[in-house]
Amino acid sequence: MLHCSMSYFCLAMLHLPNPSDARDWCNVQRQTGRSVGFVPTMGALHRGHESLVDRARIENDVCCASIFVNPLQFEDGQDFNAYPRDLNADLAVLEAHGCDMIFEGTLESFFPEVEDVRRIPMISAGPFGRGLEEVCRPGHLDGVRTIVDRLFRFVGPAKAYFGEKDFQQTLVVMDLAESLGYPDVIVCPTVREPSGLALSSRNALLSPDEKKEAERIFQSLAAAAKAWSSGIRHAHILREKMIEQFAGSRLIVEYAAVRNPSAWTADDPPGELSHAQALIAARLGRVRLIDNLQLH
Ligand code: PAF
Repeated sequence: MLHCSMSYFCLAMLHLPNPSDARDWCNVQRQTGRSVGFVPTMGALHRGHESLVDRARIENDVCCASIFVNPLQFEDGQDFNAYPRDLNADLAVLEAHGCDMIFEGTLESFFPEVEDVRRIPMISAGPFGRGLEEVCRPGHLDGVRTIVDRLFRFVGPAKAYFGEKDFQQTLVVMDLAESLGYPDVIVCPTVREPSGLALSSRNALLSPDEKKEAERIFQSLAAAAKAWSSGIRHAHILREKMIEQFAGSRLIVEYAAVRNPSAWTADDPPGELSHAQALIAARLGRVRLIDNLQLH
């Protein structure tokens, strides 16, 4: 039963309070022959999210989004509490971009069968969860896979849209979609500031000075790309080029890595790479930023 005064077919965006209402709405869409495109988010929307919604609208009959800051993917409560939230601004952005329905939820509503939400059975991130984020944020990608699995089951999308900035997350989600047999996972390009800084909800937590400093993250990826263009194919040399960009910086690099995205083996795979993704995570005070760039 939908708790909303608006009809399915009016132009205004529906805002539903919980995932079971969203499931009903999505079922009606499918039963009436409409394909559902889905953009899962944690809110604090920026132009990167807007690009996902724009694409979902073009490629599907209807488009829906979720806003849920998922506690399962935060390893520490402080980071969870500090995560930026601005629901009214998010709703305005989604509506302006033609999203048809947005829903929220709580752990209780996403996992109604679980008596105590502290005991939600976690799904392992799988083979692409190994290394990098796993080392720095243990359990984070398990938390992502667990909630995205749930979101997909509620929404049943034909296509789901994710930003390439969270590169390892996209690999984990594609692996999940393959195991479920749906949806098509569409990975959309990272949207950047003119300086190269990747748009991220966490940028809102940076002072103007810190934002300037954070530009080094993209500069390090650009250094690896330049080295690749000059013919360097060894991961450890490419990685050194990345690290050099942080000399004298306040940024604390958690990892700088070059991996073959299809093999996803350990960092610094031996020999010459034919395919390579440069990936980086760095902290500026309490704010953690990640980015990546395809080199090949
Ligand atoms: O990328 C995000 O915003 C989150 O990890 C996601 C995919 C919405 C799951 O909570």
